[in-house]
Amino acid sequence: MTDEMRSLQKDVLNFIVEFARERLGVEIGEDKKKQLCERLIQAIRKDFCDDISAFSRWFVRELNDDERVFFLARYVTVSETYFFRDFGVFTAFRYYLLPELIEQKRVLGNNEIRLWCAGCSTGEEAYSLAMIFDQAFKSGFMSKDEWVIYLKGTDISPDRIAQAREGVYYSWSFRGTMPPHYLSYFSMVGNNVRVISPEIREMVKFEVLNLMDPVYPSRETETENLDCIFCRNVFLYLRIEAIKEILRRFYRCLVPGGWLVVAAPELHFADRDTWERVVLPGATFLRKKPRASSTALSGRIFSPWY
Ligand SMILES: C[S@@+](CC[C@H](N)C(=O)[O-])C[C@H]1O[C@@H](n2cnc3c(N)ncnc32)[C@H](O)[C@@H]1O
Repeated sequence: MTDEMRSLQKDVLNFIVEFARERLGVEIGEDKKKQLCERLIQAIRKDFCDDISAFSRWFVRELNDDERVFFLARYVTVSETYFFRDFGVFTAFRYYLLPELIEQKRVLGNNEIRLWCAGCSTGEEAYSLAMIFDQAFKSGFMSKDEWVIYLKGTDISPDRIAQAREGVYYSWSFRGTMPPHYLSYFSMVGNNVRVISPEIREMVKFEVLNLMDPVYPSRETETENLDCIFCRNVFLYLRIEAIKEILRRFYRCLVPGGWLVVAAPELHFADRDTWERVVLPGATFLRKKPRASSTALSGRIFSPWY
């Protein structure tokens, strides 16, 4: 450990690690501590002219809790994402989950579909869903006049939410499988830079929300009566108690039989008494229990939707 790091550790590192644990839900073990330290030292070099004490004072005394969370989100969370990440998930959504939702809603006389992408990073996941809905409208699968789609994207990081709202993307965001005609939802604004079309942008409401805050479900955060929550590749980085509390809250956000979509390696976090595993071609989704079994879905014909 360098002297700089030792000095940072003495001053604030332990405070930061404890704060990140409580307020961001992140466990920073010894291996990660060194990495975090190096990144903070770089930031201190740039913004505090190498003055570690000035940084410590600023961080501990001048910032309020939310400001500390926002600052740290940059250093202790992973923003990795791209359009249609894990393509099978979107296929399963479009071909299995959406038809079922529509059928159920029609029976109930309810014409609103409510979705939340929690931990949406820079917006690619939420916009992928918006494009799917737009295609469903354009193909005549659903009528735009009949259905109201509420689609919300949230993240702990104000920087990422600002980028999501802006909707400007580089080629790295397009590195996954994506039907080529979906590129028509973007216009080129520079070399390898694309901006999302206003019609898709308007379909998603982006907001900053820390999943560690007990602000959901609530009317204020518009996280009540949801049909489906996407929260993928977020739990991977959180400590188990935090995940359990978030799952309890998600459960309450969802309508009976509502859906939760997590990444495959995160499925095991959801206990089987509360969440039913619904295995679909391309993905396994979680469904809030108690409620209908998955049999209604199993007989559908599987074919490409794009
Ligand atoms: C790896 S990205 C996943 C993005 C997208 N869901 C996907 O699968 O492509 C994880 C995101 O979760 C966000 N995140 C981490 N902890 C969070 C928390 N406590 N509350 C809200 N968002 C959080 C991070 O800021 C980051 O943007």
